[in-house]
Amino acid sequence: MRRNIVAANWKMNKDVQESYDFTKSLSKKLLNLKRTHIILCPPFTSLFYISELLKNSSIALGGQNMHYEKSGAFTGEISASMLKSSGCDYVILGHSERRHVFNESNELIKKKIDTALSNDLKPIICVGEKLEERQSGKTSEVIRTQYSSAFIGISEQKINQCIIAYEPVWAIGTGITATPEQASEVQGVIRNLVSEQYNREIADSMPILYGGSVKSANAKSLIETENIDGFLVGGASLVVDHFFEIINVVEQFSIGQEK
Ligand code: 13P
Repeated sequence: MRRNIVAANWKMNKDVQESYDFTKSLSKKLLNLKRTHIILCPPFTSLFYISELLKNSSIALGGQNMHYEKSGAFTGEISASMLKSSGCDYVILGHSERRHVFNESNELIKKKIDTALSNDLKPIICVGEKLEERQSGKTSEVIRTQYSSAFIGISEQKINQCIIAYEPVWAIGTGITATPEQASEVQGVIRNLVSEQYNREIADSMPILYGGSVKSANAKSLIETENIDGFLVGGASLVVDHFFEIINVVEQFSIGQEK
């Protein structure tokens, strides 16, 4: 059975003290959490400080981005080993804000994915269509292109290090969530792509998250839907109680599944 995952993408929010306070408070609330895996992706500046707090905790840390080179004259960039040494096991790559605000191409994202995997960092690879692409019936084509570019050449040994997040661009930060049917359909397309490239067993064990205006109010209907294994949460991950409510929905669902 796939493990359910809830990841927080804080984007450019929370200074060091705010990150610390949030993490301390969340850790206390999650003491009895058994089934859901939690990943926090704070800004780079908070990573190391939080990692000290999470030393004996099951909450994992991830970076929000990364450069593909090892080191060098890349002002403002962060390398894989910097993320690792700051306590990260994960890194978000290909987020729609990186693709569309910072013009990151599929080729650039692919280089970052390969670097992450060769540095023992698990990439959370984001894919998703824009509104006009959905409206013109191009969703599957866009997802296929983003998927193929990201996964080409990844071995069967490395594929189980990857997490995919389907984040339709039109649902991010807009308050408009994909319906469970819309999300499940695209996530099924992604799972079939994994199956075509590898095999059904690998596809079935691949965690595929949904992201885009997830809140506790819509989390239940989404997590109950086929092909959704958890969430990548933006806005609602900034308030401990809101984030905890989403985690709780997923945890209760996981417990129900095991009965
Ligand atoms: P929101 O939850 O704020 O829509 O953001 C989603 C997201 O981009 C997570 O990576």
